[in-house]
Amino acid sequence: MSLVIGVPRESFPGEKRVATVPEVVEKLIKLGFSVSVESGAGDEANFSDDTYRAAGAQIVQGAANLWSTSDIVFKVRAPSAEEVGLIREGSTLIGFIWPAQNPELMQQLAAKRVTVLAMDSLPRTLSRAQKMDALTSTAGVSGYRAVIEAANAFGRFFNGQITAAGKVAPAKVFIAGAGVAGLAAIGTAASLGAIVRANDTRAEVADQVVSLGGEFVKVDYDEEGSGGGGYAKVMSEGFQAAQREMYAQQAKECDIIITTALIPGKPAPKLITAEMVQSMKPGSVIVDMAAEQGGNCELTEPGKVVVKHGVTIVGYTDLPSRLPKQASTLYSTNLLRLTEELCKDAEGKKTTDGIINVNMEDEAIRGLTVIKEGNITWPPPPPKPVAAPAAKPAPAAAPAHGHGPSTTVSSPKRVVTMFVFATLLFALIGMGAPTAFLGHLTVFVLGCFIGYMVVWNVTPALHTPLMSVTNSISSIIVIGALVQVAPPLADGMARPELLIKCLAAAGIALTAINMFGGFAVTRRMLDMFRKN
Ligand code: NAI
Repeated sequence: MSLVIGVPRESFPGEKRVATVPEVVEKLIKLGFSVSVESGAGDEANFSDDTYRAAGAQIVQGAANLWSTSDIVFKVRAPSAEEVGLIREGSTLIGFIWPAQNPELMQQLAAKRVTVLAMDSLPRTLSRAQKMDALTSTAGVSGYRAVIEAANAFGRFFNGQITAAGKVAPAKVFIAGAGVAGLAAIGTAASLGAIVRANDTRAEVADQVVSLGGEFVKVDYDEEGSGGGGYAKVMSEGFQAAQREMYAQQAKECDIIITTALIPGKPAPKLITAEMVQSMKPGSVIVDMAAEQGGNCELTEPGKVVVKHGVTIVGYTDLPSRLPKQASTLYSTNLLRLTEELCKDAEGKKTTDGIINVNMEDEAIRGLTVIKEGNITWPPPPPKPVAAPAAKPAPAAAPAHGHGPSTTVSSPKRVVTMFVFATLLFALIGMGAPTAFLGHLTVFVLGCFIGYMVVWNVTPALHTPLMSVTNSISSIIVIGALVQVAPPLADGMARPELLIKCLAAAGIALTAINMFGGFAVTRRMLDMFRKN
C-alpha cells in the first residue's frame, strides 16, 4: 500500500515557510504517494488550502490529525517537543534537524523509533546531491534578502546617478564571507548598481566574486583558509590581526557591510568590532547573517534591528522566512528530488508505487539519515577514500658513472634531444618533399604555434566560449558546398551531378546550424561574464 506524506503547519513562532508547495504535491502523487496537508499550512507563503486541494492533496484539520495519519512527515524546522509527542512510531521525518546542536531532540526522536533524514546533513560535495541541497537553496534566498534588508535600512540609492539635482555616488557594499549566501548577496548588490567588495578566508572564491561583479579584497597575510569540504577553518592569530586591520579600513570606506562568515561546528568569527562600527559613516548599515550563530559583529542583537553609533545593525535570524513563497518553493523542490532518490529499488531502478527505500549503501542517503528505525546513525562514517591509482614504480636511480640504461632524462637534456631530432626531421623533409608541400607545412606549423599562443593567453574561464566560437568559425568550410550548388561561373565549366548538389545542400544546412548555433551559444556564455 502506498504511503501518506504529511505536511504540517510550521509551529515555530514567525516561521512562514511550508515544506511542500502545490506544484510539488502533484509530482509526489505521480510517484504514487497520497499527500495530506494541515489546513492553513501554506497560508503565510501564499498557498491556500484550495490550491493544495486542486493539486490533489487532502486537507486535514489540526496538527494531531495530520501527524497521526502520516507515514512520512515533511517539515522545514526541527520539530518542537510537542510535535515529537505527536509523531507516529515507525514513521519517517524529513526536515532540518541540526543533530550536533540538538542532542536531546535526537534522543527523543530515537525513543519514538522513527527514521529521520536531516536536510542539513547532506554530503554537499557530492555532485549528485546538489539537487537536494537545501542549505544552498536557503542560503541563496537569505543572501538576496540580506541586501533587500540593507537597502530598506539605508537612506540612499545603491547605484550612482547624475541628475539635474546633482550627482549621487554609488553605495559601497562590503561582504564578509563569500560562500553561498555571500555570493548571492554580491550578485544582488552588484545588480542594484553598488560598488561591491568581498573577502573570504578561502582564496579560491576570488574568481567567483569577480565573476558576479565584485572585487575580491585580500588579507595581507599568507595562510590557506580551507578547512576541507569547501568550508573554512579557524585562522591563526596572525591572520586574524591582519584581517582586522583590513576590515577596519573597509568599515571606514563602505556604507553597507553584510557579514556571512561561518565555520561549521564553531561560533561565528567576530570580524566587526565595536570600534569598526563606531568608525562607519552615520546612516551606514550592517546586516549580520551569522546572528543565529552568535554574529560576526560584536554589537549584533540576534533577531533584532538596533541602531548603535548611528549605524543600523540588522540581526534577523529568519531571513529565508522573509521570502516565504520563494524559499518554500525551492525547499520543496529539494524534498521532491530527495523523494525521487528514495523511490528506487535495490537495483537502483525508479519506482512509482509510493514506497520509500532508505538505502544506507547510497552515500547521499547515508549522510542524510541521522536516525534509522530508532537507532542513531549520526555522524556518518567518513567518506570512503577514492581508490588511488596504482603507484608507478619509482624511477631507477641514475647510474653513478653513466653506465647502463637510465629511465630518466633530465629536462634540459630532453629539450636538446628534441631540438636536434626536429632539426634533422625538417632537414630530411626539406631535401625530399615537393615545394608546394613545404609551403603548406610552414603554414601548418605557424598556425599551430599562433593558435597555441592565442589560447594560452585567454583566461581559462573563457575557454568554453572560445571553443564554441572557433567551432562556429570553422564552419567556413561551407564555402566548398556553396561552390558546388552555385551555377557555373563560365559556360565551359563542368556542372556537378545532382547527387553532389544534394549532398552540398545538406552540408550547407548542417553547417548553418553549427555556425549560427555556435555564435548564439558563445553570446549566451559571454553574457554570463558581463555585468549589468
Ligand atoms: P558557510 O555558511 O559555512 O560559510 C560562509 C562563508 O564564510 C564561507 O565561504 C567561509 O569560507 C567564510 N568564512 C568563514 N570564516 C571566515 C572569516 N574568518 N573571514 C572571512 N570569511 C570567512 O559556508 P557555505 O556558504 O554553506 O558553503 C561554503 C562553500 O562550501 C561554498 O562556497 C562551496 O565552495 C562549498 N559548497 C560546495 C558544494 C558542492 O560542492 N556541491 C555545495 C555547497 C557548498
